[in-house]
Amino acid sequence: MGSTFAGKTVLVTGANRGLGQALVDEALRRGAERVYAGTRRPLSHPDERVTPTMLDVTDESQIERVVAEVESLDVLVNNAGVAIYDDLSDRAVLERHLAVNAFGPWLLTNAFLPHLTVHAVLAGPMDTDMSRDVPVAKASTETVARAMFDAVQAGEDDIFPDPISATLAESWRTGAVKQMERQNAALVAAEPIAA
Ligand SMILES: NC(=O)c1ccc[n+]([C@@H]2O[C@H](COP(=O)([O-])OP(=O)(O)OC[C@H]3O[C@@H](n4cnc5c(N)ncnc54)[C@H](OP(=O)(O)O)[C@@H]3O)[C@@H](O)[C@H]2O)c1
Repeated sequence: MGSTFAGKTVLVTGANRGLGQALVDEALRRGAERVYAGTRRPLSHPDERVTPTMLDVTDESQIERVVAEVESLDVLVNNAGVAIYDDLSDRAVLERHLAVNAFGPWLLTNAFLPHLTVHAVLAGPMDTDMSRDVPVAKASTETVARAMFDAVQAGEDDIFPDPISATLAESWRTGAVKQMERQNAALVAAEPIAA
């Protein structure tokens, strides 16, 4: 993408705490004109460029309302997520993860197409509520938010925004899964799938 955030409109989901809160602040620091802060509870923010909006990413009616409310969008950050430390062989637990972590971003991304380009962030442990009880070294949300936006501005597709995830970057970019993705992308580009 190679663009800057100055003058842009950004929507961050899960914006009330953790990484989402840091992403809102980082977008403001980079001169974003409007930052929609998606939250499940009412939020107030001292910067008038922030527009809080109620958004549970599993609720399609809320997504529709937000899409109608946001006049134009340059950057969508699908940040909202859950990590339920429970038995993943239990279908109900797995479905709760998928609803937020997979179908939420899928619904939102589809809702804002074709205006977006896509980047993936593959983060390591961060110092937030989500990994509070995990006894490993953690990156601060401020440094991760900064590294994410730096990488977006640099046009990186797959972003490794902290020291732990960065150790995986090279093997990810040259690995079999990524090669298969590139081969499939080339196939689709050569012969678009009929609607
Ligand atoms: N922390 C880590 O070590 C780590 C590592 C790699 C990736 N990540 C990813 O980074 C992202 C941010 O995580 P975090 O560490 O900042 O977690 P966090 O502190 O637990 O915050 C999670 C955020 O997601 C929101 N959320 C949860 N379910 C939602 C829903 N259905 N609709 C809308 N918002 C919802 C929460 O809102 P409420 O306050 O209303 O619950 C909260 O704002 C997540 O996608 C996570 O998977 C985190």
